[in-house]
Amino acid sequence: MGLVDKSRLARALGEERERFVLAHPRSAALSAAAHKNLLTGVPMAWMTRWPGSFPIFFSHAEGARVTDVDGLEYVDFALGDTGAMTGHARPFVTEAVGRQAARGITTMLPSQDSIWVGAELERRFGLPLWQFALTATDANRFALRMARYLTGRPKILVFDWCYHGSVDETLATVDEAGNTKRRGSNIGAQVDPALTTKVVQFNDLGALEAALAPGDVACVLAEPALTNIGIVLPDSGFLEGLRTITRDTGTLLIIDETHTICAGPGGATAAWRLEPDMLTIGKPIGGGVPTAAYGLSAELGSRLEECFRSEGVDVSGIGGTLAGNALAAAAMRAALRNALREEDFAVAIPLAERWTTGVAGVITEQGLPWTVQRLGCRAEYWFCDPPRNGKEAAAAIDSELEAWFHLFMLNRGVLMTPFHNMALLSSSHTSADVDLHTRLFAEGVDEILSR
Ligand SMILES: Cc1ncc(COP(=O)(O)O)c(C=O)c1O
Repeated sequence: MGLVDKSRLARALGEERERFVLAHPRSAALSAAAHKNLLTGVPMAWMTRWPGSFPIFFSHAEGARVTDVDGLEYVDFALGDTGAMTGHARPFVTEAVGRQAARGITTMLPSQDSIWVGAELERRFGLPLWQFALTATDANRFALRMARYLTGRPKILVFDWCYHGSVDETLATVDEAGNTKRRGSNIGAQVDPALTTKVVQFNDLGALEAALAPGDVACVLAEPALTNIGIVLPDSGFLEGLRTITRDTGTLLIIDETHTICAGPGGATAAWRLEPDMLTIGKPIGGGVPTAAYGLSAELGSRLEECFRSEGVDVSGIGGTLAGNALAAAAMRAALRNALREEDFAVAIPLAERWTTGVAGVITEQGLPWTVQRLGCRAEYWFCDPPRNGKEAAAAIDSELEAWFHLFMLNRGVLMTPFHNMALLSSSHTSADVDLHTRLFAEGVDEILSR
């Protein structure tokens, strides 16, 4: 069986770090300058998570390519952590955005594009009524508020190691005794998440049933497959059980398709015929422009309309001045009309299959106890058997090995998402891009194995 030699790995990682610094003098200079006024040297803290001593600064991005300020070009499998799943700077988006920007962006008034977008979201996801937000985080936050209002129940339930954005109630984990705990990295929580949230393991219907039985949970907020602690697929029957138990206990089911849109044009909801009460989605639906949407059934919608008419939206804790702006609506219309369609997935999914076949071939050839997982056009390798839940997935993380592959790839012109080992394929990628990754993966493995 192939085994990683930890001392070779540490040495090789050191060499890659030196190589990185030498190759990126301009990014190094910008990074040093950025520290003067940007906390941690970046405009958003998790940009520090890129491998190497500093983040590379990008100059431009197009399709599945990113070029940095040192003039180096990368095949981009990170695609803005799904925000650019349509491909970067696609002309249909940039032209629509340019046109709308020249006609006005923020007016407090609806624009016509929003009507088209609402209809398209119904066609894709099945739910008839929609609202827009600026980010998936906000869409989730607003959906949770609606669910609590509609059910009159105080708590929500999420799966362990889920990620639904920086939504306070969801940044929780569960200990051995089943108690809800604050996620270690969640600083400054408003309240103890034990007051707001129940957490159970993905794929554990028994625990879910027990948690929902008291009838104090407004909704389950779930990705149909976990994607933020690596890809954790649902066991056969799990999602059906989730729907049955939520219905039986009067708990609303909110499906977050922000990442699982990788399963097809209507996400896992359409691909697996799920029947959520509400659905949230952000990231790629604006073709890279910040926007999000959340939808709900006609029955829930009619109850909310009454509320909004009587109390006024500005006191409902929902929405935002810039939500639903005309630029976002134009971007969504352009992106949903020209991308993330059947014909785009017909290119992207076979590329993801080629990616997993290539990686699996290397794993088998080297006799490694590793696996590769795929959901639609999203693919990921694990340094273990595929985990069945967030707890197993979190325990399987090997930060040093991850850093190795991320940096080894980056130094050779391939960008991977800086969290876990995920690659997103799009209709802008090519077979040659995938084969480059496979070749580098084989070389990267070869460098660190025991001889
Ligand atoms: C499933 C899911 N929902 C919501 C979000 C939040 O998205 P944003 O950071 O754009 O608000 C994320 C971010 O990774 C996500 O993966």
